[in-house]
Amino acid sequence: MQLIHSVSELRARLAGESSVAFVPTMGNLHVGHLDLVRIARQHGRCVVVSIFVNPLQFGVGEDFDTYPRTLEADCAQLQGLADVVFAPSVAEMYPLPQTMTVTPPPIASELCGAARPGHFSGVATVVLKLFNLVQPQVAVFGKKDYQQLHVIRQLVAQFNLPVEIIGGETVRAADGLALSSRNQYLSPAERGEAVFLSQTLQAVKQNLLSGVRDAAALERQAAEALAARGWQVDYVAIRSQATLAAPTSGEHELVVLAAAKLGITRLIDNLEICLE
Ligand code: PAJ
Repeated sequence: MQLIHSVSELRARLAGESSVAFVPTMGNLHVGHLDLVRIARQHGRCVVVSIFVNPLQFGVGEDFDTYPRTLEADCAQLQGLADVVFAPSVAEMYPLPQTMTVTPPPIASELCGAARPGHFSGVATVVLKLFNLVQPQVAVFGKKDYQQLHVIRQLVAQFNLPVEIIGGETVRAADGLALSSRNQYLSPAERGEAVFLSQTLQAVKQNLLSGVRDAAALERQAAEALAARGWQVDYVAIRSQATLAAPTSGEHELVVLAAAKLGITRLIDNLEICLE
């Protein structure tokens, strides 16, 4: 496995590679990330993982400065799984002020985008740059960040990018909490409570599967249940898998998504639901 910091070295290393599978990350890798790397291995002869904490996607007052940077441990975990780790500095990724950015579709201003203005523009912009640098045939993203995956699919479709996007299933702790680099911000008591987010989504799913169709009531009940236990709820939303818009009646492929804060830690989760 080769650790590369510069764009020129990356381009030289990947020149002539015609089967590249790519996993973009911000590092502080956990089993969820590694699962995506294993999926990438099934789709490309050369597996590239990027590790870059992207300033463009963090808002004022968010955790850019404190985001855990653990390159050495990350590389140890990737040994034997990845062929190339690309870990550029901010100056290497943004040698010029990034005055040209991707404007994501309106859906990126809802759900997580409502609380994080500019976030998905920052994500789409860095992913476009990374795709141009790595030029992968396949790229793997987690369903854990469901709205991000949707925005990336739109980026690829609307700009005709020659890359196939694969969505990896969310990897969870034994109690159901979706793995996230941000889970380590949780105190032990908060970590105990955190499982309630996925349990709440499971309850919404069970209600939908058992025939309850009042989505607004289910969203409200779930938000109230979280708030009653001390969570600061950002949203609980039942949406269409394909568009992330509110589902039309008769739509069967749904997803319930939620974001809520426990203390200072903002957690997100989602569950796909196929009605029959
Ligand atoms: P990061 O949060 O490091 O996540 C990197 C990838 O891992 C994303 O595709 C994310 O959805 C996936 N992932 C995170 N937790 C997961 C879990 N529990 N199960 C499965 N996949 C999981 O997402 C980003 O970085 C950035 O926004 C990035 C796309 C790299 C752009 O900067």
